[in-house]
Amino acid sequence: MKSPTPFVIGHRGAAGHAPENTLVSFHKAASIGARWVEFDVRLTRDGVPILFHDETLERTTNGRGKISALDWESIHPLDAGRWYSNEFTNERIPTLDEALVTLKNLNLGANVEIKSTPGREIESGHGVAAVLKKHWSNVSPPPLISSFKRDCIVAAKEEAPEFHRAFIVGKIPPNWKEILKELACEGLHCRHDQLNAKTAQEILSSGYALRCYTVNSNKRATKLRVWGVHSVFTDYPDQIDQIQ
Ligand code: G3P
Ligand code: MG
Repeated sequence: MKSPTPFVIGHRGAAGHAPENTLVSFHKAASIGARWVEFDVRLTRDGVPILFHDETLERTTNGRGKISALDWESIHPLDAGRWYSNEFTNERIPTLDEALVTLKNLNLGANVEIKSTPGREIESGHGVAAVLKKHWSNVSPPPLISSFKRDCIVAAKEEAPEFHRAFIVGKIPPNWKEILKELACEGLHCRHDQLNAKTAQEILSSGYALRCYTVNSNKRATKLRVWGVHSVFTDYPDQIDQIQ
């Protein structure tokens, strides 16, 4: 199949160079040549989709507690850059709305990974896809939606069937083909160290896109490309050879 994504996709923006899932991380990714970025989105308690990987604030902000237990108003003032380096002090957690405006200005394509706290998968899928639908104009490349959670993908499909979807796994399950078919996904995203040439061949010959995370070695990326992998997610988009 023809994949909509280039070979190199910046992971959480360019997480090796700037604090993950922030606007400055997108600027950095664009400045070092990335054409697409992946980022994580989850809902606040009051249902605002924000860019955030973890369930809790502690690792990457100066706040405490669960995102799903806090309203956007209390999350908004937090510092999401200083943990990474003083240089990024005062960087904020972006809303999905803000991120999409920046991505459009930077001409970056987006793989939007939907994260969800248990029990809010449907709401998360609907909420994220609704914002994507509202913002994405015909001039930009359409976003690629992905998730580890099947219900998030089902809900995103209900809300915005026009966008491509991919299912994310760590280890590839034996019934991967049934899952991709059931979710009407265009591709599978897997941990690069869980893939071998034979499985890659099976997935590709079934007509699905195949992308691997998180690949920070150019040598490994080259091997995956030889196997036919369409894209790699990397924290260092400048250190992986661009193919297309
Ligand atoms: O979307 C690929 C990759 O980002 C999935 O793992 O934990 O980095 O979101 P994680
Ligand atoms: Mg992710």
